[in-house]
Amino acid sequence: MPSTSLELGPSAAPIRLAVEPGPEALGRRVAGLLLAALRDRALGLSQRPLGLATGRTMEPVYAALRQALAALPAGERTELLAHWRSFNLDEYVGLGPADPRSFAATMAAALGEPLGLAPAQLCLPDGLTADPEAEAHRYAAAITDAGGLGLQLLGLGSNGHVGFNEPPCGPQAACRCVLLAAATRQQNAPGFGDDPAAVPERAITVGLKELLEAERLVLVVSGGAKAEILRRVLREPPSPELPASWLRRHPRLQVLADAEAAALL
Ligand code: GLP
Repeated sequence: MPSTSLELGPSAAPIRLAVEPGPEALGRRVAGLLLAALRDRALGLSQRPLGLATGRTMEPVYAALRQALAALPAGERTELLAHWRSFNLDEYVGLGPADPRSFAATMAAALGEPLGLAPAQLCLPDGLTADPEAEAHRYAAAITDAGGLGLQLLGLGSNGHVGFNEPPCGPQAACRCVLLAAATRQQNAPGFGDDPAAVPERAITVGLKELLEAERLVLVVSGGAKAEILRRVLREPPSPELPASWLRRHPRLQVLADAEAAALL
């Protein structure tokens, strides 16, 4: 389906929007963007690492990316994977890669192991750190050392968060340790035996500051449950109550949604 522009009013820049019929088609489209970004890195057109996200929205994306990579000639696939470097958005404080509920374990299962990536190619904040604030600073510095984020993939929280930038959150918020909102612990409870109280209380997240400094932003939203929050994020004036609304300040924001998520735009 072709991309369209979402007009937000006379003073605001239009937002690039693409709508696909369902999550699988959406996943294939986003995987195509990731593949193109990997090619740019392999060709030396961009030095910046990928910014990756976890969450159910990304499952069909990573499945389609695995498929697309598997369909390439072996030489090209090896070349693209040799140049892979990515930084994930966030990690729960208290969970390490050995815990299947950690984002580190999720990424290893979705991409690291099937693609044969070395741990140093797939970076996440260390959830087992004794000092989460220091770890957040270290992680932000590692992103800066890598040249800043390139293509940044983003899901949307049901309360308007991106990464774990919980409301209220302004556009200057940098990589840090945060307390998770009740709505987020509720949203992520399915990964914790459907018990919101079992979801860790804190997380380390890349901030809106680093996100707004990325080369480009790709916000991916699927399902009818996100339709109203997506409408608010794109249509209401940017505000701390809707952290994802600040993404509209980025000159290269692209929104990709499935038909259900885009129904109210
Ligand atoms: C989570 C993560 C985000 C994710 C978002 C959407 O809490 N911290 O990085 O993109 O919320 O999750 P889902 O795709 O499962 O709806």
